[in-house]
Amino acid sequence: MIDRKLADSHSRQKQDEEVLQWVKTHKTELPTPLYLYSEAVLDEAVAAHRALFPENARGFYALKANPQPALVSQFARLGIGGEVTGQAEWELCIAAGLKPANILAGGVVKSLPFLEILCQAGPAAIVIESEAEWARLKQVKNHSQQTKILLRINPGVSFGGLNMAGGSQFGLSTEQALAIAQECRSTAHLELLGLHFYFGSQRLEVDPIVQAVEVVEATIQTFGAAGVPIQVVDLGLGCGVPYLARDKALDGADLREQLQTRWQNPVWADIDIWFEAGRALVARSGYYLTRVIDKKQLHGETFVFLDGGLNVHNPGVGLGGFLRRNPHFHFITNPFSPPEELITLVGNLCTTADTVGTHVTAPFLCEGDMVIIPNAGAYCQTTAMWGFNSQPLFQEGWLASDDSFTLFPPQYQYVLK
Ligand SMILES: Cc1ncc(COP(=O)(O)O)c(C=O)c1O
Repeated sequence: MIDRKLADSHSRQKQDEEVLQWVKTHKTELPTPLYLYSEAVLDEAVAAHRALFPENARGFYALKANPQPALVSQFARLGIGGEVTGQAEWELCIAAGLKPANILAGGVVKSLPFLEILCQAGPAAIVIESEAEWARLKQVKNHSQQTKILLRINPGVSFGGLNMAGGSQFGLSTEQALAIAQECRSTAHLELLGLHFYFGSQRLEVDPIVQAVEVVEATIQTFGAAGVPIQVVDLGLGCGVPYLARDKALDGADLREQLQTRWQNPVWADIDIWFEAGRALVARSGYYLTRVIDKKQLHGETFVFLDGGLNVHNPGVGLGGFLRRNPHFHFITNPFSPPEELITLVGNLCTTADTVGTHVTAPFLCEGDMVIIPNAGAYCQTTAMWGFNSQPLFQEGWLASDDSFTLFPPQYQYVLK
């Protein structure tokens, strides 16, 4: 176990070094602020997440983590469908070339017009979040085929961290779901495929994930006992990534071992497992690149100004959770720079909240040097304060495994159109 954990961490370090070396070589040509996505890292993250599940499990990428259509296409190339939270993400998936049958329609509140579009298109399934949503779905008249549904279960228990189960507004109680399941049997055009579970995000500990799977197993048994057979269980495990310098990476080897044992439980024998994930699939592939644009001494502190802070990069751990906590940093400086200094890294916004790193020990930075934040592929883009101070936004680019580089149309172009 310890050896595999070490091997995982060495391989991650080696990938980071390769990307940083490439950036160093191409430093002058790269526009900033830039999100650079590495194909090698993305492929590896997908393989590592798949390895948590049985071999035939079907995967969906949660676009909310990063809706960049070019990334959605890359996931499709790897056999991963899309999980969308509404019509805009649905359209991004279609534009990225995904077939409706490979798109899972989630999202907290789906309107009747959106449900009508879905029932015409034929998604992998529609995830029902509430009794009201079920009532809206029943109003849809035209279905191009049987419309498949999953019922999202909120078991009423919480596993801490970024909790989205017990105490949250998401999903149905087991009783509500059972009632819908019974009704579905006699509802034309609608077919109950199974259950959906998503208990929380940014999990860096193995135990809450495994405990959540135990609750899933108990729920499957409850449905079985009520005479409602379940074909599919969709699981969002909420695996996290170490954004902050103090975060420890999730022990993927331990999680893999524990989950692979759990799938042997007879409860899973006749069930197709689907997984949906955002962060675990995309976060590590993204590197946020920003340039030093100014530097000053003030009351004994050294402030280094970057060309993009909070308006283009939020470490994605949730507002209130990131302020004044430092992510990991890499620096690309002049090799002849004097030794290290203690600095505070800030962006270019008129708010003290725009602090990227506080009291960071860094090499001596000059204008034009680069500061790089790894693990920046998920939520950092979409949860940033885009409009504030009307500062320029970010570019996005792809570093392919053959070292070629392509700029993507930035994702905000699709939102701000
Ligand atoms: C229902 C659902 N599925 C999937 C995700 C993606 O989660 P993660 O990025 O933690 O994998 C979320 C995140 O909030 C979610 O709410």
